[in-house]
Amino acid sequence: MSFKSILVLATLAIAAYAAPSRNTVCSKGRVASDAACCQWFDVLDDIQTNLFDGGECGEEAHESLRLTFHDAIGFSNSAVREGKFGGGGADGSIMAFAQIETNFHANNGVDEIVEEQRPFAIKHKVSFGDFIQFAGAVGVSNCAGGPRIPFFAGRSNNSRPAPDLTVPEPSDSPDTIFARMGDAGFSPIEVVDLLASHTVAAQDHVDGSIPGTPFDSTPSSFDSQFFVETLLTGTLFPGNGSNVGEVLSPLAGEFRLQSDFAIARDSRTACEWQSFITNHNSMVTKFEAVMAKMSVLGHDVRSLVDCSEVIPAPSKAKTTVAHLPAGKSLADVEAACAATPFPTIAADPGPATSVAAVPPS
Ligand code: HEM
Ligand SMILES: *[C@@H]1O[C@H](CO)[C@@H](O)[C@H](O)[C@H]1NC(C)=O
Ligand SMILES: *[C@@H]1O[C@H](CO)[C@@H](O)[C@H](O)[C@H]1NC(C)=O
Repeated sequence: MSFKSILVLATLAIAAYAAPSRNTVCSKGRVASDAACCQWFDVLDDIQTNLFDGGECGEEAHESLRLTFHDAIGFSNSAVREGKFGGGGADGSIMAFAQIETNFHANNGVDEIVEEQRPFAIKHKVSFGDFIQFAGAVGVSNCAGGPRIPFFAGRSNNSRPAPDLTVPEPSDSPDTIFARMGDAGFSPIEVVDLLASHTVAAQDHVDGSIPGTPFDSTPSSFDSQFFVETLLTGTLFPGNGSNVGEVLSPLAGEFRLQSDFAIARDSRTACEWQSFITNHNSMVTKFEAVMAKMSVLGHDVRSLVDCSEVIPAPSKAKTTVAHLPAGKSLADVEAACAATPFPTIAADPGPATSVAAVPPS
């Protein structure tokens, strides 16, 4: 499915209201579909150079992607139904009220990227809600094989602090995670689609003794390795032992969250999980669609301007089918999808894989 057709799917309703195309030439001859999008090319140039170290899929890109979730998931349909405030979704409240929200346990560590991003949002006079979703989409576009997440501009800069306990914890059970995510409008399958984010991810705080420990062997590439490596039998703790929210990992230097372990093996989600191992395109396409949905939580998308053309097209992935890390065989796989046999994938040659930490920048 093309990028544009995902947009159409994600925002079917918009078609009836969409303004006629009014292409505008912006800085450096770049063309925007709406004059309101031009400023985002300038934000793009600035953050690629000064936040993402020249367009890298490094620590800031990973943290910026995580932040899109921690801002947006402060949203509750049941609260709306009961006439209560359950958070404003992707509204920038995590930045506006950082002194409140970054103290929530599940937000451990996001204060760093919030404070790194804030001066850019202020300098460019864009709302915190817009900036957070933009930076996440740009950051992950720097990852090889990555998604091109649609970007809509125009979120209000006014927000209220989200309540605590809207962000899932790695020690939560799948039931708890699916219930919380369901209350924000996401099915268990969509939770798996969102977790493709963990293919470009590392932990700093679950085990604070080993910052930068990745969840798969290729944390700067948006490939399917995460989905196979989470299914390998766990054998070791990469750091100082068993921390809350951590389970045994299969590779030296690799970290496994209890929630990823459990969702990979849950009967409601195991087949979606396994399907991405041999279908990079589906993983990316579904991630783009679910991120488009998450990025406008709490907003009427018809009140926003589609500036998706500003998001760079990522480079291609090196491989589109995951492999077993060197030293592993199919006997190490804990296959969990009842409907479909585990795919026959090859193992890398050579000595047992050990995974390097994501360097701090
Ligand atoms: C559904 C349940 C989820 C749980 C329980 C969860 C939990 C976590 C935890 C504990 C970390 C490590 C944080 C640290 O110690 O520094 C992490 C990292 C990360 N998460 Fe999630 N996450 C979930 C969903 C998501 C979603 C939906 C996204 C994105 C859109 C996301 C994106 C990331 C990224 C990119 C990182 C890496 C951050 C970095 O490398 O600095 N996660 N997640
Ligand atoms: C958004 O609100 C913050 C305060 O929460 C302020 O510092 C910032 O300048 C505002 N930005 C815009 C574009 O109004
Ligand atoms: C590991 O180290 C961290 C401090 O970095 C500490 O909080 C945690 O309790 C330790 N975990 C174990 C299992 O020793």
